[in-house]
Amino acid sequence: MNVSAIIPAAGSGERFGEVKQFKLLVGRPLLFHTLKPFLQSKNIHEIVVVVHQDDLDATFRDVLSISAGKSVKVVAGGKLRQDSVKNGVDASDSNSTLVCIHDAARPFVTEDLIQKSISACENADGSVVAIQSQDTVKYSKNRTVEKTIARENIWLAQTPQTFNKEKLLLALDNAETNQLTGTDESAIMEAMGYNIKLVEGDSNNFKITKPGDWMRAEAILHQQAQGNLKND
Ligand code: CTP
Ligand code: MG
Repeated sequence: MNVSAIIPAAGSGERFGEVKQFKLLVGRPLLFHTLKPFLQSKNIHEIVVVVHQDDLDATFRDVLSISAGKSVKVVAGGKLRQDSVKNGVDASDSNSTLVCIHDAARPFVTEDLIQKSISACENADGSVVAIQSQDTVKYSKNRTVEKTIARENIWLAQTPQTFNKEKLLLALDNAETNQLTGTDESAIMEAMGYNIKLVEGDSNNFKITKPGDWMRAEAILHQQAQGNLKND
C-alpha cells in the first residue's frame, strides 16, 4: 500500500502576524522540523509539500538537500487550505491509495502518530488524530452558556488526517460543487457520510497558530535537546 504525505504550507500566518512556515525555529525552518518524521517514516512513500507560488524554487532546493532519497514534490497552493490540499493530492503518485495530510505548522508530529494514523484506515475511509478535551465543554452563543456537552464525547482534531485517496477526491469535488469549506479535510469527508476513525493524539502535537505558540515550541525543542545530551 502506497501512502503519500501531503504537507500544506501555503498559508499566510494571519493570526501569527507573519508567514511562519519558513521562520527559523531553533536554527531550522519550521517546515524542516515538520518534514523530518515524514522523511524518516517507512510508512510514507512520497511527500508532496504545498507552498505559495513564489516559494516553489527555494523550497524545492531546501527540501532536496534533506530528502535522503525519498521522493519529494513541491507544488503551488491556493487561496484556501482546502485548495492547497487539493493541489497536493492531485500531484501525488497515481499508485498511492492513501494520503496522509499534515499541517506544516505542527512540528511535533512523530513517526508513531503517522503510523497509527495510517493503520486506522485499514477498516475505515479515513482517520483523524485528535485529543480528548480535559476541560468541561460549554456550548454557547453570544457568550451565554446554552448547555454543557458530555466531555467524553468531545475530541479536538489535530493532524495527521489520513484518507482513502479516491474518496477524498470525491469529497473535494463535492465540497467545490456545493461550496462547502471545512477547516479540516475530515469535515468534507464526514459530509459524504464516510467512516472516519479517531486516533489518540498528543498535546505536544499542537499547531503554531499565535505568537505565544512559538515560545512553547522553542521550549520543547530546548528540552528535547537537553534530554538528548544527557542520553549521549
Ligand atoms: N495552508 C495552506 N494553504 C492555505 C492556507 C493554509 O497550505 N491557503 C496551510 C498553512 O501553511 C498551515 C496549515 O495549512 O500549515 C493550517 O494552519 P494555519 O495555522 O491556519 O496556518 P495559516 O493559514 O498560515 O494561518 P492563519 O489561518 O492564521 O492565516
Ligand atoms: Mg489558516
